[in-house]
Amino acid sequence: MTAVSTSTALKLAVMGGDGTGPEVAAEGVKVFKDIAEKEDIAYEIKDFDYGGDRYLATGEILPDGAIEELSQFNAILLGAIGHPDVAPGILERGLLLALRFHFDQYINLRPVKLYPGVETPLAGKGSDDIDFVVVRENTEDLYCGMGGFLKKGTPDEVATQMAVYTRKGCERCVRWAFEYTRKRNRRKRLTLVAKTNVLTYGHDLWWRTFQEVGEEYPDVEKDYNHVDACCMWMVKNPEYYDVIVTTNMFGDIITDLAGIIQGGMGVAAGGNINPEPGGTSMYEPMGGSAPKYTGKGVINPIATIAAVAMMLEQSGFEQAGRRVAAAIQKVTGTKMKSQAAGKMGYSTSEVGDLVCEAL
Ligand code: IPM
Ligand code: MN
Repeated sequence: MTAVSTSTALKLAVMGGDGTGPEVAAEGVKVFKDIAEKEDIAYEIKDFDYGGDRYLATGEILPDGAIEELSQFNAILLGAIGHPDVAPGILERGLLLALRFHFDQYINLRPVKLYPGVETPLAGKGSDDIDFVVVRENTEDLYCGMGGFLKKGTPDEVATQMAVYTRKGCERCVRWAFEYTRKRNRRKRLTLVAKTNVLTYGHDLWWRTFQEVGEEYPDVEKDYNHVDACCMWMVKNPEYYDVIVTTNMFGDIITDLAGIIQGGMGVAAGGNINPEPGGTSMYEPMGGSAPKYTGKGVINPIATIAAVAMMLEQSGFEQAGRRVAAAIQKVTGTKMKSQAAGKMGYSTSEVGDLVCEAL
């Protein structure tokens, strides 16, 4: 069934996916292998060809047995999904969301850090000002797919799309965020971002859970922003934030805003984490498959390498993760001309080499 052994090695599944995904994934793997050797980390790697091309050829997104095989891995490194010949939503739901849900990756961890040498569209803000983390709940809310149509296609059509929140789903996310804030040990401020003034049931549950769990963390400042106000403050005073915990849909939206203030999709990374023992997590650059840059060797692999740093940190190899993160900053700060595709001053693979040299 699987070639993966039962040893204690870190088992990594690599899913390059579509477009530029395989190019950036290759650089992530390059850096991973280098740091694994330097830090003496035993690993096993296996490639998977899931994505748009395979779907077009076979009609399958995740073939029979795929989930079972992937469950043997500690981590999945996902390059990108999105294919010009596949209708939007098919691969997103059939692969990305399917894996998030199946493996119950209930934390979506999105660090927002402006690396040295990286340009932000926010005037007057620098690396010290933009350094916070968004913990996005990753399994509930509007993403659960509950709802339906009534009288579809008629003038009387009704469509419902339900936001589902459970105490369990909310509490495990909020608790993880408190633990993370304590461990990060920076401002020790956890901001709940929600919309309690309008979402008087679901976000009331979030609010109460946040207050109750918060009592176990007297050392962490409990803070609250409505999501609309958060979008304002994130632009005006990003330095205010330390850790944000939020619901799935709002987390999706505010992390695109956050991604652009940290320098764009070339640098923003995300982790879909199942923190339970034996859980399978998935790490990805936040950018898409960028069809127009595919095969040109010009796409920025920094986000994918940052995803590898996060994977190491979250898999218990914290020092290795810190080394990769430091190497990334050396390269953005002293080598790369820009983070935009084609303007880096180096090719995709040269950027990977520079990070390895800086390790
Ligand atoms: C993200 C993406 C996904 C999401 C899409 C592709 C389903 O936007 O990872 O933020 O909405 O979660
Ligand atoms: Mn998104």
